[in-house]
Amino acid sequence: MDEPIVVAEGLRKRFGATEALRGLDLAVPAGTVCGVLGPNGAGKTTLIRILATLVDPDAGRARIAGHDVVRDADRVRARIGLAGQYAAVDEKLTGRGNLRMFGRLYHLPRREAHRRADELLERYGLAEAADRQVSGYSGGMRRRLDLITCLLLRPAVLFLDEPTTGLDPRSRGEIWDSIRELVAEGTTVLLTTQYLDEADQLADDIAVVDHGRVIATGTPDALKARLGDRLDVVLQDPAQLGRAASVLAGLTGGEPSVGSEGARLGVSLAGGTVRLADVVRELDRAGIAAADVSLRRPTLDEVFLSLTGRPTGAAADEPAPVKEAVR
Ligand SMILES: Nc1ncnc2c1ncn2[C@@H]1O[C@H](COP(=O)(O)OP(=O)(O)OP(=O)(O)O)[C@@H](O)[C@H]1O
Ligand SMILES: [Mg+2]
Repeated sequence: MDEPIVVAEGLRKRFGATEALRGLDLAVPAGTVCGVLGPNGAGKTTLIRILATLVDPDAGRARIAGHDVVRDADRVRARIGLAGQYAAVDEKLTGRGNLRMFGRLYHLPRREAHRRADELLERYGLAEAADRQVSGYSGGMRRRLDLITCLLLRPAVLFLDEPTTGLDPRSRGEIWDSIRELVAEGTTVLLTTQYLDEADQLADDIAVVDHGRVIATGTPDALKARLGDRLDVVLQDPAQLGRAASVLAGLTGGEPSVGSEGARLGVSLAGGTVRLADVVRELDRAGIAAADVSLRRPTLDEVFLSLTGRPTGAAADEPAPVKEAVR
């Protein structure tokens, strides 16, 4: 079998007293999208910087297309593109001007640089804005321009560090479309994100990173299946929450949590099953009126919460919340 195009083994990196990576392993098969998901400070950017040869690991190894990121850094650089956490484009130039400039920086022949710039602007929906100064671009347009400058050299592997953070939903959707287009052409993408829906939408495989290590990997579906289905019950009378919780605990063996709306209880079935009819009957027997009883797959947010003890968007060193909030 072919070696995965991105391989990281036991990566460690320390910055002063901070251990950013503590033995991180990762493998990304060619032609797939790997979503690296983790809270602030988990080590996502450090991982990307090591894979992109911008910083050396203290220990461990990484290879891109078989080339070691430290010993064969030049060979690695020839095969990758990197769009950092903050868009790196020249505000004073036009979109086309930026692409041409980067084309020259990358030593593309002038003609080829111009041709490639035009092609990319057209393909990724920036043709109309191509001759406007970037200072007038929206956040989403800047990100898209940043992304396509990485494509000038047709990289085999593209690293995207939080490609849509801070963008409005429409711009996020446009970036997602661009990423899907790239993948359809065979590019391997490793993206970091704090947005579970982004990983859910784009990633073939997800690696959940916390405190510098990968704590879970799998397809979005596999990660959800691991947590088991969720049973949601909405009560007519919030005053009956306590009693309803003990009925549900008895039926499922799990510990129900109270939703933010007050009259909703949720409990994970943790691999087991329960029949809705039994839930309704037992609640009825206890004199509890339910407005709604339903079974559903967990959201990736719930998976993340159960793995890390923290909701997404919380900092890595934030204490775990006392009570799990349902939705
Ligand atoms: N150059 C540096 N000097 C000192 N500390 C650093 C440096 N780079 C990263 N760190 C620390 O290492 C840890 C991991 O940082 P990293 O930027 O990799 O996290 P991240 O997962 O990308 O977080 P975010 O979601 O905020 O981008 C953090 O505690 C960070 O403060
Ligand atoms: Mg980061």
